[in-house]
Amino acid sequence: MKLRNILGIDIGGSGIKGAIIDTKKGKLLSERFRVPTPQPPTAESVAEVIKSITEHFKWKGAVGIGYPGVIQHGIARTAHNLDESWIDCDLNGLFSKTTRCTVHVVNDADAAGMAEMKFGAGKGQKGVVLLVTVGTGLGTVMFTDGKLVPNLELGHIILKGDDAELYASDAARKNQELDWPVWAARFDEYLKRLESLVWPDRIIIGGGMSKKGDKFLKYLTTKAPVVTAELLNEAGIIGAALISRYYNKLEKKS
Ligand code: BGC
Repeated sequence: MKLRNILGIDIGGSGIKGAIIDTKKGKLLSERFRVPTPQPPTAESVAEVIKSITEHFKWKGAVGIGYPGVIQHGIARTAHNLDESWIDCDLNGLFSKTTRCTVHVVNDADAAGMAEMKFGAGKGQKGVVLLVTVGTGLGTVMFTDGKLVPNLELGHIILKGDDAELYASDAARKNQELDWPVWAARFDEYLKRLESLVWPDRIIIGGGMSKKGDKFLKYLTTKAPVVTAELLNEAGIIGAALISRYYNKLEKKS
C-alpha cells in the first residue's frame, strides 16, 4: 500500500468531510466532499456515510479519521456530542470492515494539532503548545517540543459550575445568541483557566473559529500569545491522514 496519499476524514457534529491528502506536503489533492452528519448520529449510520465517502473517491488505500471524542487504540471511549452507542465501539474494526480499507481513528483535536504542528501555526515551535479547537465542542491538544499526549480532554473542565464546553464553545455562542464581546469574555476566562493549569508558551485556536480571529482575538488577555490556526477547517482531515500514515508505518515494522 502506498502511504503518501491518504484519505482523511473528519466526523463533525453537523458534517462529515473527506479529502485525499498528500501527507508529505500537507495539501489536499482533491476537493473536499461533505455529507451531513446523520441524525441520530449512531456508529452504524456514520459508518455508512464513511463508506459512501470512500466510494465517492473510489478509494482503496489507507484512511485516517478524526472522531470528536476519546479514542484509545481505535476504540471510542466517550461520545459527548454524538450518540451513546459509540462508547466502547471498536471504530478501527468497524470502519475497516464497512469500507474494506485500512482505517485508523483518532481524536479530532489530536488530528488537527498534528497538522498545525507540521504544516501550520505550530510549525517549528518548541516548548509547550496548546491548541484549542472551537466548534460544537471544545477540543484540546498539547505538544511539548513537538510531542503529543493524546486525548487531553480539557474541554470538559468545570467552569462556572458547568462543563466548559457548554459555556465557551461556538455552539454555546450560537445557541445562547451571545454577541462577540460576551462570548469572547467567556472564552478568555476559559483560556486563562487552561493557562493556569498547563502553562503553554503559545496557544493556537483551531476549528471553525480559526477563520473569525478578527471577532475575538482582541478581547483575549492570556499571558501566552494566541494565534489562529493556519490550515483552518482543513487541519482535521490533514491531521487524520498524517496520523494514519504514522500508524500504518508502525504496523508495517512490527
Ligand atoms: C470531545 C473531544 C473533542 C472535542 C471537539 C469534545 O466534546 O470530548 O474529544 O476533541 O469535543 O470535537
